[in-house]
Amino acid sequence: MSIEKAVAYAEENRDRFLHELKELVAIPSISSSSEHKQDIQRCAQYVRDAMKVVGFERVEMVETERHPIVYGEWLGAPGCPTVLLYGHYDVQPVDPLELWETPPFEASERDGRLYGRGTVDDKGQFYLHLKAMESWMKTAGKLPLNIKCIVEGEEEVGSESLEPFLKENQDMLAADVAVISDTSMVKKGWPSITYGLRGIAYFQIDLRGSEQDLHSGIFGGAVKNPIHALTDIIGQLKDIDGHVTIPGFYDNVVNVAEEERAAMVELPFDEEVFRQEVGAPELTWEKGYSVLESLWCRPALDVNGIWGGFTGEGSKTVIPAEAHAKVSVRLVPNQEPDVIGNLFEKYINEISPPEVEITVQRMHGGRPFLGDLTHPVFGAASRALEKGFGTKAVFIREGGSIPFVRDMTDTLDLPCLLIGFGLPGENAHAPNEWIDLENYALGTLSAIHLYQELSEM
Ligand code: BES
Ligand code: MN
Ligand code: MN
Repeated sequence: MSIEKAVAYAEENRDRFLHELKELVAIPSISSSSEHKQDIQRCAQYVRDAMKVVGFERVEMVETERHPIVYGEWLGAPGCPTVLLYGHYDVQPVDPLELWETPPFEASERDGRLYGRGTVDDKGQFYLHLKAMESWMKTAGKLPLNIKCIVEGEEEVGSESLEPFLKENQDMLAADVAVISDTSMVKKGWPSITYGLRGIAYFQIDLRGSEQDLHSGIFGGAVKNPIHALTDIIGQLKDIDGHVTIPGFYDNVVNVAEEERAAMVELPFDEEVFRQEVGAPELTWEKGYSVLESLWCRPALDVNGIWGGFTGEGSKTVIPAEAHAKVSVRLVPNQEPDVIGNLFEKYINEISPPEVEITVQRMHGGRPFLGDLTHPVFGAASRALEKGFGTKAVFIREGGSIPFVRDMTDTLDLPCLLIGFGLPGENAHAPNEWIDLENYALGTLSAIHLYQELSEM
């Protein structure tokens, strides 16, 4: 079987691969909004049809309680390893829409970039794998190994339908290694293998003071304002150094290994460049750790949104009846979302003043991931990236979360390769999301090599 032919096929078909990605991006598959239910269906169908084009033996759209899972497999290489490829076709909402330079669902090319919601997270990234497989199938008539492929539609809302699917189909999904492209390279020109991800625990806090809004002149001074109560509570979640004050919060945090710290220093990361990319006047990070360690290896608590009271034009003198906040906590090994959830809820209830009623809702969660770098799949991935990009790959951790990674590695007992072709500055989840088109092409080549390398293990 000749890999040169597959590589040549990918190069010859580069424009078509890009054109197809544009079609995929044009489907507004926003998983969080019920308005987009039809679009989600259409997007799942598009992915299903793309799997058929690859030449999978079995392709299915599996309905769930929420959004369909698209599953496809090709098992024509008996005796060879099996890869479980995972990706997500759903995307984040697009607001604030007015900040987009071109419409989010009209993929448009500018300066070697493809702009549009989902270009990098994750449509472009999983699609390039389908194109890599197509390149093998159309030239060699087969793949160098067996492939099982899950592309889901709920990643951006917590992957809740996937766990039952996984549990019910454990035998069908058995594989030797999971492969995911839904992360980033540390820098352009630095192909990266991510061996650690943070987990997440997400909460909504709701406070109620009075039964209804009150005149702040008639009642101000004698009634607790729930917005003040809420900001007091939020203010007590961290100390002056930025440490989370929830009792027991750090109990299970595993220290960063010395060799990891040493390796991180060698990475092409410049704090000042990072600060400028972020566009903040100054950075803040945990004392005793580097910026990268704080982002990748330490937990973090953030308020994602806060609302309540009067925010319209002009002024209205009112004591609002309610105040609300959304809070996310990023977790590192060995913090568990449920344990942190208990600690969080208990502490919030303890510090909440008696003049308000408080409820803490637990939303989605996901466990942190840390791979074992001594596993041979990492060597295979590293060789594949070096062949694809022409430069040596680096090993990194990242701060984002993909809840399904731990579900999959724990349930199916397999190693996981996170090989991302995104860049940190590509505006995932923000206006003007884009993917670097050179990385899209090199990512496709690397995936072609990856299947070859993994098959030789
Ligand atoms: N692809 C991201 C996760 C990611 C991004 C990992 C960059 C590493 C580097 C994924 O789509 C995502 O956004 N995940 C969510 C989690 C989810 C439960 C909403 C996240 O991290 O906020
Ligand atoms: Mn993603
Ligand atoms: Mn995302």
